[in-house]
Amino acid sequence: MKRSEINALMRDADAFLKSHGFLLPPFAFWTPADWAAKGDEVKEITERGLGWDITDFGSGDYEKIGLFLFTIRNGHPDNLKTGRGKLYAEKIMIVGEGQVTPMHFHWSKTEDIINRGGGRLLIQLYNSTPDEALAGTDVTVSTDGISRTIPAGSTVTLSPGESITLPPFLYHKFWGEGGRVMVGEVSTVNDDAHDNRFYEPVGRFPEIKEDVPPLYLLVGDY
Ligand SMILES: [Fe+2]
Repeated sequence: MKRSEINALMRDADAFLKSHGFLLPPFAFWTPADWAAKGDEVKEITERGLGWDITDFGSGDYEKIGLFLFTIRNGHPDNLKTGRGKLYAEKIMIVGEGQVTPMHFHWSKTEDIINRGGGRLLIQLYNSTPDEALAGTDVTVSTDGISRTIPAGSTVTLSPGESITLPPFLYHKFWGEGGRVMVGEVSTVNDDAHDNRFYEPVGRFPEIKEDVPPLYLLVGDY
């Protein structure tokens, strides 16, 4: 992706989130010069991967296959081993109409995906087999605390206010319908480097063509 495209998506995302009353933390708006003046006091941000994260999953077509994410808080995988400290993570995401996040599951993370406003969020679900293929078995999931069982490959629709709990090993693919969607994620510790199992291999972080200076840094820039 071009840096100019990333900068435009950041400006646009900030305006969209604000229009839904969602405000990003102060470090979202630090300039590259601000970052250069920081020291060890910001290690939690850089080491836990907090901040702007925009990806086209290597597709070269962000509008079709892509996702805007901003990680607001995140623990460390070691927290899960000890059961203490920051065991959790939170993200805000923007999913465009027809903009797909490809089929994947997480080996460790349990995540609640929440429609926080805008259009509808559609999520297609499959159990995984022991060799990590798509299973043909019925899927049992919880949506806002209510258990339901649906056939393999079914699509769950979340309207604004609704959410779903995605446990480990449950394949999910999602996209927006009827407008752009502001999507929240509340989860256990997030580890994008090791905990994403995409059904078909994708690039998780985009290659950036530096045609202009960055407006704000991406997680991949730290
Ligand atoms: Fe996921």
